[in-house]
Amino acid sequence: MNDRQPERGTEPEPGPERGTDPAADQGGGRILVAYGTRRGGTRGIAVELGEAFREDGLAVDVLPATVVGELKAYDAVVLGGALYMYRWHRDARRFARRHSAELRRMPVWIFSSGPLDRSAEEKDIPPIAGVLRIMSRLHARGHRTFGGRLNSEDAGRIGRNMARRGVEGDYRNPEQIRAWGHEIARTLAKESAAGPDRGAKDGGAKDGGAKDGGAKDGGARGAQDSGA
Ligand SMILES: Cc1cc2nc3c(=O)[nH]c(=O)nc-3n(C[C@H](O)[C@H](O)[C@H](O)COP(=O)(O)O)c2cc1C
Repeated sequence: MNDRQPERGTEPEPGPERGTDPAADQGGGRILVAYGTRRGGTRGIAVELGEAFREDGLAVDVLPATVVGELKAYDAVVLGGALYMYRWHRDARRFARRHSAELRRMPVWIFSSGPLDRSAEEKDIPPIAGVLRIMSRLHARGHRTFGGRLNSEDAGRIGRNMARRGVEGDYRNPEQIRAWGHEIARTLAKESAAGPDRGAKDGGAKDGGAKDGGAKDGGARGAQDSGA
């Protein structure tokens, strides 16, 4: 994912991307990837996750968190937000609040983006405190921090200052993002195969990501500490 090179499925035309693959929805159900972004980097991560889910036969919608009306159509949700000044993007926070009742009853995974260095590839970066609280409220299954992107040409004043200090670049790692998507898809497929009693909507088994900074991890150091 480099600004100067064509990106692999990360920045399609703006607007909601609906899952239209008729071959999809073959167990594991329909999954929503919702995101909050300011400059599009987090959207690229969401799109990459969507592609991983489609490869695994899931039906997927990748949508800005602001446009999602209701969650009835979905069996699982992945919610992501950019980190700005130690806070998760407002659209992701609002989405979590608006849909909290439904989200608590379904499998939810959370991601944050992202440090402007390679730290997110080198180690697991736990959620910041605010995200951790949201995860706890939603009984989220797991969390990942992915590297972010800073492009001085479309950054604000602070972003341009940061770029001048040498952090400009694209630190998103498509392989890492897709690997997490496949992990989630495997969990959903396993639960779907186990039958409706342990199915997706029960928020049942806690694998597929609980190890990586799940809601239980109260003493986590946040992504703000990671060099961003
Ligand atoms: C003003 C500013 C503040 C930022 N604050 C943080 C932060 O607190 N923690 C972090 O990990 N990254 C931080 N970043 C990096 C962004 O999260 C990164 O650029 C991300 O990819 C932005 O996502 P977006 O393109 O979806 O808006 C900051 C970037 C800018 C420009």
